[in-house]
Amino acid sequence: MSELYRASTTAPVNIAVIKYWGKRDPKLNLPTNSSLSVTLSQSDLRTHTTASCSPNNKSGDSLILNGESQDVSGARTQACFRELRALRKELEDSKSDLPKLSTFPLKIVSENNFPTAAGLASSAAGFAALVRAIANLYELPSSPTDLSKIARQGSGSACRSLFGGYVGWEQGSKDDGSDSVAFQVAPASHWPNMRAVILVVSAAKKDVSSTSGMQTTVATSSLFASRASETVPKRMQEMQKAIQDKDFEAFGKISMMDSNSFHATCLDTYPPIFYLNDVSRAAIKIVESINASAGKIIAAYTFDAGPNAVVYYLEENEKDVAGVFKAVLGEKEGWAGERGQAVEANSAALDKA
Ligand code: ADP
Ligand code: DP6
Ligand code: CO
Repeated sequence: MSELYRASTTAPVNIAVIKYWGKRDPKLNLPTNSSLSVTLSQSDLRTHTTASCSPNNKSGDSLILNGESQDVSGARTQACFRELRALRKELEDSKSDLPKLSTFPLKIVSENNFPTAAGLASSAAGFAALVRAIANLYELPSSPTDLSKIARQGSGSACRSLFGGYVGWEQGSKDDGSDSVAFQVAPASHWPNMRAVILVVSAAKKDVSSTSGMQTTVATSSLFASRASETVPKRMQEMQKAIQDKDFEAFGKISMMDSNSFHATCLDTYPPIFYLNDVSRAAIKIVESINASAGKIIAAYTFDAGPNAVVYYLEENEKDVAGVFKAVLGEKEGWAGERGQAVEANSAALDKA
C-alpha cells in the first residue's frame, strides 16, 4: 500500500515595530506585553514547508530544516504537533470515513530562503508555515486566529505571521492562553506604499537565541518591568492610531524608540546581551542623517534580536531612503520585491558611511 498524504505552504516573516520580549509563561509562550508587526512580502523573505504523513512511515515524527535533520522532541514543536493532531482527531471522530492521519507520523520538510536564527524572524515564518502546512494536510477548518494560538506555542512571534498587513498580538490575561492571539490591525492595502529595506549585516546564527535572551532579561533587567507595564501599553495605542491615520512620522518615531527600548533592556540584562554591532549603529546614523536632511521622519529603523536592520519608509521616498542605502552600500546581490528591496550589507561598506 502506498498511501501518502501531503500539503505544502509558504509563510512570510513579520518584523515587529513594537517588540515582544519577555514571557509570563514560557511553556505556553504567553508574553509579558502585547506587540505589533508588519508582515513582509513573501516575494522577498519566506519559508516553504511541506507536511506529509503515511501509515508506512515507521520512523516517527521528523523535521528537516534547510536540508538538516532537526530534533523534534522539544516542547515547542511537540505542542504544535499535539494540538493539530487533537483537532484532526476530532474531525476523524465526527466523520468515520476520514483516513486516520492523526495516528501517522508527520514528516516536515522546510526551507527558509533567508538566514536562519540571525534576527530576521525565521522562527516566525518557520512556525507559521509548519502549523499551516499541517492544518492543510489535516484539512482543518480552523481560522487564522485559532492557528495563531497554536503557532504561538512554537514561537511567540509566529502567531503574527498568520495574518498579512499590520498585525497585533494581544498578550491576553488568561492562564490557558486562549486570549493570547494575533489580530489584523489593518490589511496591507490600507497603507500600500509602505516599504522595507533589509540590511543583512550578518547572516550568522546569533549567540543568544531569542528564547533564552528574553528569559535572562525578565530575570535580571531592572528596566524591563516598566517597559512591559507602562512603555509598551502606551505605545500599542499610539502605534495603532498611527497606522489607522497613516501617519508615517508617528509610526517611524514609535518604531525607532521601541527598538531602542528593547535593545536597552538587552544591555541591561546580566550578563549583557549585545545584538547590535558597529555596523548596526552605522545604519542608525544613516537613518538619522536621512531624516535630518528631509526635515522630518521619512525612514525608521528597527532591529530584532540580531544585528540586521529593517528600515521602513514610504514608496514616495524610495530615492531618499533605499537609494541612499544603496549608494552607500553599492549594488549588492539581495532580495528584491514589491515591498522594497533587501540589499546585502557588509561591514566594510557601511563603515565608509
Ligand atoms: P530568529 O531571529 O531567526 O527568529 P530565533 O532564535 O527566534 O531566531 O529562532 C531560530 C530557531 O527557529 C531555529 O534555530 C529553529 O529552531 C527555528 N526555525 C527557524 N526556521 C524554521 C522553520 N522553517 N521551520 C521550523 N523551525 C524553524
Ligand atoms: C525581538 O518569537 O523568536 O523578534 O517565542 O522564544 O520563539 P520565542 O521568541 P521569538 O522572539 C521574537 C523577538 C523579537 C521581537 C518580536 O518579533 O516581536
Ligand atoms: Co525568532
